[in-house]
Amino acid sequence: MRKRGTFGSSLGTIMVVGGSVIGLGNIWRFPYVAGENGGAAFILIYLAINFLISVPLMFSEFSIGRAAKSNAMRSFRRLSPVKSWQGVGYLGIATSFVILSFYSVIAGWALEFLRESIAGTFMQLDPAGIKAHFDDFVASGWGPIGWVIAFVALNGIVVSFGIEKGIERFNKTAMPMMLVILVIMCINSFFLSGFREGATFLLRPDFSKVTPAMIMQALGQSFFSLSVGMGAMITYGSYIKKDDNMFRIGGTVAISDVTVAILSGLAIFPAVFSYGISPTSGPELVFLTLPNIFAQMPGGQIFAILFFLLLFAAAITSSVSLMEVAVAYVSEEFRLRRRIATLIITLCVMGTATLCALSQMPGSSLTVAGQNLFDLFDNVSSTYMMPLGGLLIVIFAGWVMRRDLFLRELTSNGRFGHRLSRPVYFMIRYAIPIAIAMLFLSKLGWLQF
Ligand code: PHE
Repeated sequence: MRKRGTFGSSLGTIMVVGGSVIGLGNIWRFPYVAGENGGAAFILIYLAINFLISVPLMFSEFSIGRAAKSNAMRSFRRLSPVKSWQGVGYLGIATSFVILSFYSVIAGWALEFLRESIAGTFMQLDPAGIKAHFDDFVASGWGPIGWVIAFVALNGIVVSFGIEKGIERFNKTAMPMMLVILVIMCINSFFLSGFREGATFLLRPDFSKVTPAMIMQALGQSFFSLSVGMGAMITYGSYIKKDDNMFRIGGTVAISDVTVAILSGLAIFPAVFSYGISPTSGPELVFLTLPNIFAQMPGGQIFAILFFLLLFAAAITSSVSLMEVAVAYVSEEFRLRRRIATLIITLCVMGTATLCALSQMPGSSLTVAGQNLFDLFDNVSSTYMMPLGGLLIVIFAGWVMRRDLFLRELTSNGRFGHRLSRPVYFMIRYAIPIAIAMLFLSKLGWLQF
């Protein structure tokens, strides 16, 4: 058997896992989801779900991957005699494809906007001009497709160099750069006239918005943002060294995740309010509202370049983890060299992502039940596939995997987290599956609170 890679250092491991966790979910999705769902009320529920459900789920994934030392599908096969559990691995691989397909489209837009920021294109346009420009770009077909293909190709290049020399090395440069950009943007935001109003929009608690549907939103956002429920953390877990501390990795990345999400909101909303624009939701916040603001702001072109560079870096450090799920599977199961496996997956993703980009053209027939493919993939993955995957993974970790093996992995052979391991194990067995199942059933309308 060929030797499997591992991460080089503890710091490298945090950069790689943190790279996966911090992504478009934090910068593009979190600010508007939080702003629309009751601000601080949403953030509190999100935090509770992160630490009570998603982080223990992340530990479960790390433990499964590190115990089996294999890809998402084979890990289940190795740890249980019951063959059908490998289906959870296949579900994860399918989810990684679905997410990667729409994710690459947004990342492709970020690249186009980066190019336009450098060229200064939208700096001369008024709001109506910027909107027309964005709509034309999305509808043009070839523009978005070209960028999607370029983005997926870049992913393929990073992944083809392997775990330590590709992904880890790349993230070690990209992550600190992202932090610097984000801090610069927040400092700038602090001095804008709309800082208070923007911060209030993001942070003012509105507890009347707390409903089961909102909690389910928070769960979906939390799984998506912490990259859990689909096998990415099983795959990455399989590269974590046996003596590395999972509690530290999980704790650090979970805290970084919320910090970056809130900082992104603080970088975006004050600017929105300072220029008298109302906060919109969805992709528009980043791709329509922000360019308007950059066009008006002193030094806006520099901030535009920095922001879209940040968005691109955040996207690619996450998307390589999605691609790695499929590449590890194909290379190990079909005994292919990493380069070949990566090439195959890259070509497949180019195909599915292109379909997502095409589905956004007006009049496109790529729709299912009234939703275009792009929206469908976005919804299906975080509302159904990840919660279902997460539920099955905690059941596997708590009830199927051997207890001593699981606890040994969780504590890195008794080295770390002695006192935490028992309550965490209890939660994984009882509280978490029940909580996810109840939320999931209420979402399906089978359970009413
Ligand atoms: N966590 C990433 C983000 O916030 C998205 C992602 C989901 C990455 C699942 C890997 C696995 O953007």
